[in-house]
Amino acid sequence: MKNSISIIALVIIGGYFFIQSSPRDQAGQKPGSIYTAGVKKVIDEKCYGCHSAAGKSRDAKNALMWDSLPGLPKGKLVATLDDIIKVVGKNKMPPAGVIKEYPEMRLLPSEKQILQSWAESRADSLLK
Ligand code: HEC
Repeated sequence: MKNSISIIALVIIGGYFFIQSSPRDQAGQKPGSIYTAGVKKVIDEKCYGCHSAAGKSRDAKNALMWDSLPGLPKGKLVATLDDIIKVVGKNKMPPAGVIKEYPEMRLLPSEKQILQSWAESRADSLLK
């Protein structure tokens, strides 16, 4: 009797862990988590100050808001990802005036690479 109770308990506990470990909630599939850790770090350090609710430039906020990017309709999202690829490739962001005053804001080659390959792969997967 004792044995069958512990077998039942084992089955229940085992089932619980089986359900817990099923891959339902993978990072990147939830809305809002389209940024990998590396991408988020670059954005936070070099872009977010202007392109977020706390930003002071209306133009910057109209052009791009990182927090609302994940919720954009597909066409607008692809267009914005293309804009990001372009401005990063042409060293247009952060703006030249800002780099002049704060040289440490300039994107490093490795950071450009991180942002661009992320934006390219996001855009590609949306266009499939
Ligand atoms: C100091 C403020 C500031 C920072 C930092 C900044 N931006 Fe901007 N950004 C702006 C402003 C202002 C505009 C709108 C005017 C313009 O296009 O030049 C803009 C526009 C843009 C646009 C739209 C441009 C277009 O031609 O459609 C993109 C895309 C963009 N920024 C991406 C970025 C990225 C990526 C970073 C980080 C690497 C970044 N920005 C950092 C101020 C900033």
